[in-house]
Amino acid sequence: MSGSLNPTALVRLLGSWNSGALPAYRELADVVRLLVMDGRIPLDVALPSERALAQTLGLSRTTVTAAYASLREQGFLTAGQGSRGRTCIPHRTAPVSAPGLAVPEGLLDLAYASLPAAGEVVHRAFADALTELPALLPGFGYEAVGVQALREAIADKYTAEGVPTTPGQILVTSGAQHALNIVLRTLAGKQDRVMVEHPSYPNALDAIRAAGCKPLPVALPLIQSSTSPAWDIDAMVATMNHQRPAVAYLVPDFHNPTGRIMSDLQRRRLTRAATASGTILVVDETLRGLNLDGVRTAPMSAYSPAVVSIGSLSKSHWAGLRTGWVRADEALIARFVSTRTVMDLGGPVVEQLAAARLVRSFAEPLDARLEELRNNRETLLGLLSEHLPEWDVERPRGGLTVWCRLPTPCSTALTMLAPDFGVRLAAGPRFGVGGAFEHYLRVPYTLPAAQLEFAVGALRAAQNKLDASPHLRRTLKSARPPAVAVA
Ligand SMILES: Cc1ncc(COP(=O)(O)O)c(C=O)c1O
Repeated sequence: MSGSLNPTALVRLLGSWNSGALPAYRELADVVRLLVMDGRIPLDVALPSERALAQTLGLSRTTVTAAYASLREQGFLTAGQGSRGRTCIPHRTAPVSAPGLAVPEGLLDLAYASLPAAGEVVHRAFADALTELPALLPGFGYEAVGVQALREAIADKYTAEGVPTTPGQILVTSGAQHALNIVLRTLAGKQDRVMVEHPSYPNALDAIRAAGCKPLPVALPLIQSSTSPAWDIDAMVATMNHQRPAVAYLVPDFHNPTGRIMSDLQRRRLTRAATASGTILVVDETLRGLNLDGVRTAPMSAYSPAVVSIGSLSKSHWAGLRTGWVRADEALIARFVSTRTVMDLGGPVVEQLAAARLVRSFAEPLDARLEELRNNRETLLGLLSEHLPEWDVERPRGGLTVWCRLPTPCSTALTMLAPDFGVRLAAGPRFGVGGAFEHYLRVPYTLPAAQLEFAVGALRAAQNKLDASPHLRRTLKSARPPAVAVA
């Protein structure tokens, strides 16, 4: 059907919509959304103009404008011309990240797990980098493999961790995500299988799909006690032996989203099995520096020269540096450079000079950062156990996030409702393949205590709303959450 709805008809449908419990624009958007999902407002009809509806409801036009904006944001109203957007239902296809998607003003962002810059340290590194720049200005400035000073600093860091490394084994990239794309395009052909932990990091899953590969998920086991193994290595070995994935993408160091760390014993077994089956282990160490409990493990590359390691300064220092790297044997690095130069011809030089300084004194900002994260972790775990006792929460050993098991499969529904209570979430299925993890939600502890308190209050309110209405839960579950950028 197509047509339009006049203001009087809409007001009749709205009934007594304004309980006063929430801001008027949210209640208005909420009721219109339910009417669309119930089929009482048909799809593809133009809603009344903002002015006409405001007049009929006796509201300010700003309230109606905000309600329509919220409906658009959640995918229930087309962008349309002017204010006459048409009703629609969000499509239920796998949502992908939309980097750069602005967080609507006033929403607390729980979809990103990232920290502000270790400001003073980063700023100083850039000031120092500028003093070194003149020495490089006579060169062409194309540094496809990376500025030598940074490659040396990264290689020395691995060597200090017990994995002897030369600068020739390092390729500098614009972050870990860039590194993963280069590695996938080099090592995995279209239709190849890529073994992944399940759950896994959403942007990595997107990169695997975008490279034309098929993610092969292996479930992480439920943790029953402090001695439970964090990875199911038997299942991974069986998958490598029987399915022969070309590549395995793993986050063994404070896994995103669970915050788990793989034991040395498990690392040894996994690398051995990968060598036997010919699977290349691509290990993402982006979160390795965020070791909240001081767990000692050797980097995966200590167990096999065939491991390809990816690193980044995004979580230890600042995502705005856009600096990451790949460590591999020199022959592979040469292949990665060929792939990279198809996409870009190198990273900016000043950033790399600054990054070299940051890598050389890697630990400098970490003490304060880890202390802050430990406090935040306790605050969030305390708030969740007090206000959402029915959620089953896994204690992360490091990293930035808590992975929560919900009592019912309502992650998407919570994500849809959350903006009404002031927060933006990434639904559990973003972390899985084929719609898994409706029972899960990732909550970051990157925010200060007061904001965590607000966030948990919002989650409680959203959960209450769902608990009070099984119908709402069912309807929202089959809707598609808005595309959100996740990190
Ligand atoms: C496991 C993992 N890999 C990669 C990234 C992205 O890193 P970068 O900002 O360096 O691209 C993140 C960011 O959250 C991450 O958690």
